[in-house]
Amino acid sequence: MTRRTLLHLPIAAAGLAAAESPARYDEKLRPQFHFSPATGWTNDPNGLVFYKGQYHLFFQHNPFDVKWGNMTWGHAVSTDMVHWKQGDNVLLPDKLGTMFSGSAVVDWTNSSGFQTGEDKPIVLFYTAAGGTSPESKGQPFTQCIAYSSDGGKTFTKYAGNPVVPNIVGENRDPKVVWHAPTRRWVMVLFLDGNTYGFLTSPDLKKWTLFQKISIPKTSECPDFFEMPVENEPGVSKWVFTGANGNYLVGSVDGRRFEPEVMTQAVQEGANYYAVQTFSDLPGNRRVQMSWMSGGQYPGMPFNQQMSVPYEFRLRKHGYASYKIFATPIREVEALRGTPKTWSDVALKPGENPLAGIAGDGWDIVAEIDPGSAREVGFRLRGRTVTYRSNEKGRNNTLETGGKSAPLALNAGRVKLRILLDRSSIEIFGNDGELAMPFCFIPEDGAGLELLTTGGEAKVVSLKMYPMTSIWRA
Ligand code: FRU
Repeated sequence: MTRRTLLHLPIAAAGLAAAESPARYDEKLRPQFHFSPATGWTNDPNGLVFYKGQYHLFFQHNPFDVKWGNMTWGHAVSTDMVHWKQGDNVLLPDKLGTMFSGSAVVDWTNSSGFQTGEDKPIVLFYTAAGGTSPESKGQPFTQCIAYSSDGGKTFTKYAGNPVVPNIVGENRDPKVVWHAPTRRWVMVLFLDGNTYGFLTSPDLKKWTLFQKISIPKTSECPDFFEMPVENEPGVSKWVFTGANGNYLVGSVDGRRFEPEVMTQAVQEGANYYAVQTFSDLPGNRRVQMSWMSGGQYPGMPFNQQMSVPYEFRLRKHGYASYKIFATPIREVEALRGTPKTWSDVALKPGENPLAGIAGDGWDIVAEIDPGSAREVGFRLRGRTVTYRSNEKGRNNTLETGGKSAPLALNAGRVKLRILLDRSSIEIFGNDGELAMPFCFIPEDGAGLELLTTGGEAKVVSLKMYPMTSIWRA
């Protein structure tokens, strides 16, 4: 955690966001198909869970200011992980601390005993960050739970909190998963530095630490989940991720997690942090969302946005390696309007087939043969996305926002998918081989360009779908 100044204001204003009108969501830098809070600050997505047709997104929230502070869990619900409706805040700071990040599960067997009626308990795990507010002065960082017995409408903090006492320093960000073979709950918890702990529990209330691991190149916000390997029928692996999306693939031997592959990065962009996957998704899906950390929103009543949800596929990739492929969830496609399409277009330096096209929200799907071009790509509202090829002794790369990542040609072609929103751009290469998420502030008056330099390229196909706002639909 970068230490952020903590502002403490009265809790009475906490329901503020719920009363905002939808017209509010049309500001100049307001993302039109990425979640942002109506007003105030957000950082990490928390408690991502599905129950009875509803997806829940809780989020680190400062209801009182557009700066980090007063950490509270905001709450939004959706029926498709794309259109979100923000409701009342659910976890407010208390004597144990302000409400730092965590997760949620549906307790299908009522192991916690929190069930009172028909609905299975939804249990939230969060860090009470002691010492970050005047009321919690002198308290340590501990792990706590809250539960809903009415399907996610209301939540109650557990009277026996904390359920995990302080282990070390500012330990935080509990993520809980069911481990079916041992019929136990497993919590992964950030301890400090690059070290994380694994804890286990029969009932979500009593927890025992049983393993510690260190993971290079990541810190904070762990996640842990099992995924089938798409191209190895019958094989599944466990994946451990840290806040920046860096991940280890391995196996659970009895109870212990044994990493088998070196740390890999799930994305190569600049604004993707505090990742978390949804719990209890139907259809065995694994979907991750992140805080698009670091974006600037001058003059806006809100600050920060979430990524669109990314669908994961785990594939055996090269010798003894497994790799996550990430693409926008298919539900995003429901926002697409009628596309402008091109196919088999020869593109020469100086030409721009997109001249005169206006609009600030696009889903762009392109397949390009760079031909003899040195660079081929887009300039979208001032942001360049360049595919660089044909340079002796260098890998082909995708470059944007000061970052560069290798992206190979397949049969002479590269596939690009670009989600362009009012203040973010997410680029996916070759069906999920590469993901590059960024925040940006568009240049005033800058339009859309498709361009090439150094030679002629072929646009095998290009579809530009204008996107509908999630706040209006
Ligand atoms: C990650 C993080 C978490 C912490 C939260 C506080 O961005 O620092 O480790 O729980 O943010 O807002």
